[in-house]
Amino acid sequence: MNEKKTGGFYLTTPIYYVNDVPHIGHAYTTIACDALARWHRMRGDVTRFLTGVDEHGQKIEQAAEKRGMTPIQLCDEVVINFRRLWKVLNISNDDFIRTTEDRHIEVVQYFFSSLLKKGDIYKGSYEGWYCVPCETYVPEGQIGDDHLCPDCKRPLTRMSEESYFFRLSKYQDALIKHYEERPDAIMPRARYNEVMSFIKSGLQDLSISRTTLKWGIPVPGDERHVVYVWLDALINYISALGYPKPGELWETHWPSVRHMVGKDIIRFHAVIWPAILMAIGANPPVRVFAHGWWTVEGDKMSKSKGNVVDPFEMAALYGTDAFRYFVLREVPFGNDGDFSESGLMHRINSDLANDMGNLLNRTLQMIEKYRDSRLPADSALDRANSLDDTLRDLAIKTLGDMDSEMDNFALDSALKTLWVLVGAGNKYIDDTEPWKLGREGSGDRLDVVLRTLWDALRLSAILAYPFIPDTAQRIWQQLGLPGEVSGAGHQSWRWGKTDSPVTVKKGDVLFPRLDAAKWGEEKAARDEAKQAALRGESGAPAPQAEKFAQIGIDDFKKLEIRVAKIEKAEPVDKADKLYKLYLDLGFEKRVIVSGIREFYKPEELVGKKILVLCNLKPAKFRGIESRGMLLAAEANESGRDLISLAAVDDDFPVGALVH
Ligand code: MSP
Repeated sequence: MNEKKTGGFYLTTPIYYVNDVPHIGHAYTTIACDALARWHRMRGDVTRFLTGVDEHGQKIEQAAEKRGMTPIQLCDEVVINFRRLWKVLNISNDDFIRTTEDRHIEVVQYFFSSLLKKGDIYKGSYEGWYCVPCETYVPEGQIGDDHLCPDCKRPLTRMSEESYFFRLSKYQDALIKHYEERPDAIMPRARYNEVMSFIKSGLQDLSISRTTLKWGIPVPGDERHVVYVWLDALINYISALGYPKPGELWETHWPSVRHMVGKDIIRFHAVIWPAILMAIGANPPVRVFAHGWWTVEGDKMSKSKGNVVDPFEMAALYGTDAFRYFVLREVPFGNDGDFSESGLMHRINSDLANDMGNLLNRTLQMIEKYRDSRLPADSALDRANSLDDTLRDLAIKTLGDMDSEMDNFALDSALKTLWVLVGAGNKYIDDTEPWKLGREGSGDRLDVVLRTLWDALRLSAILAYPFIPDTAQRIWQQLGLPGEVSGAGHQSWRWGKTDSPVTVKKGDVLFPRLDAAKWGEEKAARDEAKQAALRGESGAPAPQAEKFAQIGIDDFKKLEIRVAKIEKAEPVDKADKLYKLYLDLGFEKRVIVSGIREFYKPEELVGKKILVLCNLKPAKFRGIESRGMLLAAEANESGRDLISLAAVDDDFPVGALVH
């Protein structure tokens, strides 16, 4: 068993530009980080997981202008999509940073002033070819006669400006030494080699301010300049920890920092950023890991082709866990990969429904049938034979193997390893033929087999949790285990031993199988609708979620929104998010079911005059008919969900209509 000591684990995603809606690339990085963060939390490491958005720079300024908005209006609108997506994808970030927040702006300015004082930032002038979409000057040597950006192939613009520079060249030797001593500080190996040869080819000082745009953080004391968006962005990793204030967050987490990035932004993170950190006397990242890029059905993803994979849509169609599992399992982490929905559909049917789902189903069915749902006692394991021991040994080996795979960010290998155990569990059922034991009355032997299977499943649920958290919890509950699988702690990563008698509770199948023919028809219809939307045909649904269509006043008039008084708020049994609310509308009383339980205590609700959409079709929740829906604002601040009920003054009459 793995007895490794616990440690610190501060993990960051890149902060995403808000000039566009989130796509599979953003989802991929964040899901990968989420699985790693959950893994480390579960094994007892002091874990912190940060994500956020990059809101300054020309890209955002231009995107806002195009839409006739101010930059901050655009940011405020788009950030909602990211927050929502992380909720949908079950992302467990501890903090969410926006570069327009004061806590960030202050740090960037402090940072600039102190490096200026130290002499690592100086003022000069810069002329060169600039790529607006990439927000970067392209070195002369990399520019062809066509004057296109070598990365994105779009036209470069000639720019000249007074600029502040960071003395990157000064840190060349220190960087080489740092990486020579820590070959795993950049992963995978190919990226390490790429970065090393880039550093060795000679580093030039870096222009870190712009006078050509307004939408950025002003350089302190010289407000014609704004801080270069990449410097601004990189600093998020430390401003989110409250740097430079000496405090627990910074001291606890910075020493263990690991950055996850896409391969396109490795140099910013593995060259510029560590040099800057050296300049302020902070440790460089323990690791920068660059993952690969997704293509879609063999093609580069692009809006004009209409093939951008929408993670909201994937989660809605296939389920969050299936989508998470697929992106992490499909491609060796670090390599490029190709996304196809048919691949996703096949993995749901084979890995999730057939392998994992069946193992649980078969095991629980037998415990139900032969043991009246009661798990045979631990002592059964004392009679294990070599067949049983083989499964036990494999489970124990799986724990250790996955631990080291996760240490190397080899997420796909970790999943493969786990599925070897799941496969072995299914084979063990075929080999031991428990149904015969049941018939033959070999009770003792059947106890051993059922107990062995149950424990293999218990460990599988623990190990699957970081990747497919909801499914793991469902398995946990069906196995009859109390509490949360996430709380299963490293000490329970071992074979055998349960404290109390266990009764299993078989539930719904984990992953219903998808019918390939039906799936094919539906997919073709969706593709056709997307292409029609791309051609601008009316009636076709918008391909991206979270877009609001314009409506006329007549549409609004269809809503019957009224003032209602809450008379009673009753928790709904076995649904920890729901209240049954008894409302008085003046002309009638009615009941609605609402998911606000984690935000309000019953006594905070009773007597409140809220707004209710009254002409919504009735729906049943947990057997209770809900007639209407209350209105509330929803937000997420620093990773915390917030809800505020739309209400009117206490003395306002009930039943009043809202116009
Ligand atoms: N704002 C910068 C990062 C600043 S970090 C201090 C940025 N933002 S981004 O929104 O353009 O990209 C964020 C991440 O998405 C990058 O890591 C990038 O590699 C990743 N991806 C964008 N498209 C992708 C795919 N098609 N596939 C996988 N990841 C991709 O860069």
